[in-house]
Amino acid sequence: MPAFTASAPGKIILFGEHAVVYQQPAIAAPVTQVRAKAVVMPDVRGQPGRGQIIAPDLGVNADLRDLPGDHGLAAAVTDLLAHLGIGRAPAFTLKITSTIPFAAGLGSGAAVSVAILRAMSAFLGQPLPDEQINALTYEVEKIYHGTPSGIDNTVVTYAAPVYFVRGQPITRLRVARPFTLVIADTGVSSPTSVTVGDVRTGWQADPARYEEMFAAVGQIGQQARAAIENGNPAALGPLMDDNHYWLREMGVSCSELERLVLAARNAGALGAKLSGGGRGGNMIALVEPHAAPRVVYALEAAGAVRTIVTEVK
Ligand code: PMV
Repeated sequence: MPAFTASAPGKIILFGEHAVVYQQPAIAAPVTQVRAKAVVMPDVRGQPGRGQIIAPDLGVNADLRDLPGDHGLAAAVTDLLAHLGIGRAPAFTLKITSTIPFAAGLGSGAAVSVAILRAMSAFLGQPLPDEQINALTYEVEKIYHGTPSGIDNTVVTYAAPVYFVRGQPITRLRVARPFTLVIADTGVSSPTSVTVGDVRTGWQADPARYEEMFAAVGQIGQQARAAIENGNPAALGPLMDDNHYWLREMGVSCSELERLVLAARNAGALGAKLSGGGRGGNMIALVEPHAAPRVVYALEAAGAVRTIVTEVK
């Protein structure tokens, strides 16, 4: 019997993190250089209902029934079985691998879920359309993130850039002219829940000031959308710089991020900003394709532990 294989890319936030929590727009794009992959092998001699889940990177090698219900990998499978109304699936082995760094704001949880749902639904003879993959991934995202905005699952499922306002349908963006980003990781791990909580505390202490900052970021997001759709990506550089300024004002930058942002700009990037929750994690720089190696070199010299060059298209 053949194996069923599926994969999904990572994601990066281009504009609007944190302000998006307060109803301002955010823009995110897939990162196709890193991927999560799921392979389902039918286990013809296995007992129906049995499913072995193997994820070497996560140290998981267990029967589905032995994993807790709130385990993200198990939940993707059990939610799918419930969705399809399947009580006892034919026995299988599901192997998950990923080149997307974990807990780094690159959407690894969503990508793993999308890959599992695609491979498993094909194995079960009912491959699901993207709309249902997206909806089921959102349900699993709740386990990882509590109250996810829905941006990760959407970008990763459709592998397309999106414009997103909380509570509104997500718009896929048409990229009129592709552009190149360098993504660099500070190597500092920083839980998004902490910075989101700190921004909330700041907002509660001084709502007027924070709402002004959120609105400024919202304006930037709208201008960025226009630049992307009108084929003027160079305009995104100054918008990234402005967005970074406001994120720093919100208190979610850190010395490592500042060093990388500065290094990228000094090496000729058109603009640079932190990306995601902040106080660590990743930053992005907009570059002319020919300048990418120079900016990568500068970022690594400034302490980046990993860089990815990606084209948004
Ligand atoms: O670190 P990431 O990529 O998961 O992004 C967090 C984005 C925030 O706006 C800070 C939080 C959120 O839920 O939107």
